[in-house]
Amino acid sequence: MSSASAANTAVIVLAAGSGTRLGEPIPKAAVRVHGRTLLDYALEGALASGVAEHVVVTVPADCSVSCPELLEDARRAGALITAGGDTRTASVVAALDALKDAQVPVDYVLIHDCARAFTPPQVYHRVLAGLGSESSQGVVRAVIPVLPVVDTVKTVDSAGLVTGTPSRAQMRAVQTPQGFEVAALLAAHERSRSLPAEEAELLTDDAMAMEAAGEPVLTVAGDADAFKVTTPMDLRVARALFGDSAA
Ligand code: C5P
Repeated sequence: MSSASAANTAVIVLAAGSGTRLGEPIPKAAVRVHGRTLLDYALEGALASGVAEHVVVTVPADCSVSCPELLEDARRAGALITAGGDTRTASVVAALDALKDAQVPVDYVLIHDCARAFTPPQVYHRVLAGLGSESSQGVVRAVIPVLPVVDTVKTVDSAGLVTGTPSRAQMRAVQTPQGFEVAALLAAHERSRSLPAEEAELLTDDAMAMEAAGEPVLTVAGDADAFKVTTPMDLRVARALFGDSAA
């Protein structure tokens, strides 16, 4: 396997979510910050990083009617466009299939949530640099950007009673883009599909599927600007910090 470079790497920007928690009547990726969609900002960061020659965007299945502006943004960025699935994982699979169908020869993918629209290029660089590196558990085929956890975190039972307090020093909050060797990711997905439904349901993201397959998953430093636009409060923060009228 050759080492990761722009020529053999694709960025997948996941923009097929509905964003119900944001309380906007349009798909989250189409929400605007100072006139530009979140997808436009996310693509700007991915392209500015220069980590990949290939970009795939997953959009809502009815996008030509519900969000044609996303198709325009993706086309302007020269991205391959594909309809996402019902879940984030299904959208990842759709994007990997689109790369295969278009016969784009990539060995590595960086999977990015469009909702983390203001992720600086340096995060992409750190993730790509980690791929293919040596760890005490072998060659690294999965890399995730993380931040230290600042809040104390509790586990609770169904009645809301505290059952434990995990050590904050060992916890990290996970961001995107998350980088993977494509062959290892496909093998991890295949393995997840063969698990009983109740076990497979617990594997909610690609890094978990890799962990479950016994692959070392390396963490690198994330960035506060890579926060996920999820709630109306996040959108207010984004509008205050980013875009033309930001100070
Ligand atoms: O819903 P959540 O914010 O966790 O979604 C994370 C990212 O995955 C978002 O950028 C969203 O657009 C994308 N997604 C997707 N397909 C889905 C669900 C989410 O592409 N079915």
